[in-house]
Amino acid sequence: MPDRVDLIIHDVVIATMVRGHFNLIPHGALIADRGVIEWVGIAEGLPAVRARHEIAGRGRLLTPGLIDCHTHLVYGGNRTDEFTARLAGESYAEIERRGGGIMATVRATRSATVEALAAAARPRLRNLLSEGVTTVEIKTGYGLNAEHELKMLDVIDTLSASTPQTLIKTYLAHTIPPEYRALPNVYVTEICEEILPQVVGRADGFDVFCETFAFAPEQARRMLLTARAHGLPLHIHAEQHTSLGAAAMAAGLGALSASHLEYLDEADVPRLAAGGTTAVLLPVAAYVLREPHRPPVEALRLQSVPMAVATDGNPGTAPCFSLLTALNMACVLFGLTPEEALAGATVHAARALGLLDRIGTIEAGKDADLVLWDAESPVELVYTLGYHPSATVIKRGRVLSGA
Ligand code: NIG
Ligand code: FE
Repeated sequence: MPDRVDLIIHDVVIATMVRGHFNLIPHGALIADRGVIEWVGIAEGLPAVRARHEIAGRGRLLTPGLIDCHTHLVYGGNRTDEFTARLAGESYAEIERRGGGIMATVRATRSATVEALAAAARPRLRNLLSEGVTTVEIKTGYGLNAEHELKMLDVIDTLSASTPQTLIKTYLAHTIPPEYRALPNVYVTEICEEILPQVVGRADGFDVFCETFAFAPEQARRMLLTARAHGLPLHIHAEQHTSLGAAAMAAGLGALSASHLEYLDEADVPRLAAGGTTAVLLPVAAYVLREPHRPPVEALRLQSVPMAVATDGNPGTAPCFSLLTALNMACVLFGLTPEEALAGATVHAARALGLLDRIGTIEAGKDADLVLWDAESPVELVYTLGYHPSATVIKRGRVLSGA
């Protein structure tokens, strides 16, 4: 270790989140240098080095920077009309079939400029940052054709230039445009042969929405195989409204994550375990849609399938840009423990993105993405709703002001 380092944090309760547990260090300290955690341990063991910047923790809580591993936070317009329609009894599937839902946002996103989409997305990212979210995955999927899907990737690049957060870009094959509904396989071919080759090198991963009113499992499989052949990490939206066996199919292809899973058949859980696939739970969408089915949390837990939790932030089913709210809902609606919920926004969210070697836990050698909370226990982060302890956010060793 150099004798002069960038940052020392003294006197903190550290929730390291190693292996999915709080793994608390009750009287801890941490050294970061050149953006990386150099040392973490009990305060008494702190190596005698000088630092350019020192923080007195005064017994506050230090966690890894939070990770929102599933969002659709770049989009045009809003869907307030659908919110009202659903409250009056119309279902999400009915709204999708009459050309609302995802297609409503596709129309608004196509007609917006890169700058307008970025400007609309910035406050959503800022809200996540204010509650300690240092890495955000953002999906495309509201462009559908090559021009507008690539435009969405441009928007995320524009956002990356103006936020300290790490933004992970996922190309999402979201739904079949109306002009292709009679010949969906023609659209699947267009994705495989025209869009995916252009997306490679621009996106960090590929995702597909498998559902009765989006892609069928066989179509999803074709695209996943093509994406995999291009070297893209795989994700799937599966079993949100119906049970199609899509999560197990994607797990068989080595998908990093399978999201939603309210209708996941328990018999498919071993296939997720065998595939090393992380289950991404999205309780805000279940809450907004008043979905009565629950993901098979107990089976996932028993079979050691890692469970991540994300906002799913999007204009329709989860207009929510608060990861801590999603964590609370994961506990209250889905039955996660507070420890599992926080693991879902740190270590398992990192795993869902294939980034566990860099982020997600507080360990020497990882990025110094950290949050210092005005809290004594990590449960405080999960237990309040619409309120959270004040947070000092540190990104790659840099203390962010105003966060
Ligand atoms: O994850 N399930 C598919 N996609 C989004 C919803 C997107 C939308 O309604 O615009 C989701 O919930
Ligand atoms: Fe989603």
